[in-house]
Amino acid sequence: MVKLHSINELDGHLQPLREKNRKIGFVPTMGALHEGHISLIKQAKAECDFVIVSIFVNPTQFNNPKDLEQYPRTESEDIALLEKNGCDFVFLPAVSEMYPNDYKAEKVDLDHIENTMEGKHRPGHFDGVVNIVSRFFRLVQPSRAYFGRKDFQQVAVVIEMVKQLKLPVKIVVVDTMRNPSGLAMSSRNLRLSEQELEQAVVISQVLNKGQSWAKTYSPAVTLEKMKRYFEDSALKLEYLQIVHPETLNDLNQYWVPGATACIASFCGEVRLIDNMEMVSSIEN
Ligand code: PAJ
Repeated sequence: MVKLHSINELDGHLQPLREKNRKIGFVPTMGALHEGHISLIKQAKAECDFVIVSIFVNPTQFNNPKDLEQYPRTESEDIALLEKNGCDFVFLPAVSEMYPNDYKAEKVDLDHIENTMEGKHRPGHFDGVVNIVSRFFRLVQPSRAYFGRKDFQQVAVVIEMVKQLKLPVKIVVVDTMRNPSGLAMSSRNLRLSEQELEQAVVISQVLNKGQSWAKTYSPAVTLEKMKRYFEDSALKLEYLQIVHPETLNDLNQYWVPGATACIASFCGEVRLIDNMEMVSSIEN
């Protein structure tokens, strides 16, 4: 595996592959890699000639400076894991490389999908995501880029951004990897105590409950039941919404295929997000 630190090095290695029309698969990450990230890399390896992973804790997408400071950084373990899983290139740029003095922020009209859920509770978060992901796409020029469904709204934002900026990259969405307990894998789980790891299981439990209530009740009633169930837990709810899979508008009376429940909550100090499809098809 080749380690790249600068844009010059990146170009030097990728340009010959582009000239030979090799299919480059790209997996952007912020490190502290776990099986969820690895599942993206495995899919990229299966579908592309070369896989490049970036590890960059992007400061502009953190609305909370403490969260940025406490974000886990495990570079040597990450590199060993990438090597073991057959990654071809890892890109580890410095902040000054990604945000040079003459850097101009990207302006993209995301058609309101950035105003709900994560966007509403983490102001500026998606501006940061759009800026860094578009910059990576322009530098790496991948044929395909891999994103986890775990960050449901991020996927919607990236798809809209690619459309607006007319970038020639296919976005591939990979299912959420979970611990045997059901808890969605996340770099932030490293900050949970043993007890909190057990308490956090309520997140996937409430989503599973929602899925079965959705067979009988409307989105609004399902949501009420889910909120009541969650109230009895040790976690503090930030939001729980059932949304349309593309517009991300809240659903009330009627289900649509792909309707998804999205949740953010605090387990102690740690903010965790998850989501699950409530209805895959509509039965008459
Ligand atoms: P990060 O949180 O490191 O996640 C990198 C990618 O891994 C994202 O596409 C995320 O959805 C995916 N992922 C995380 N947990 C997963 C799980 N349990 N199962 C499957 N996929 C999972 O998301 C980011 O970084 C950043 O916002 C980034 C896109 C790199 C821009 O800075």
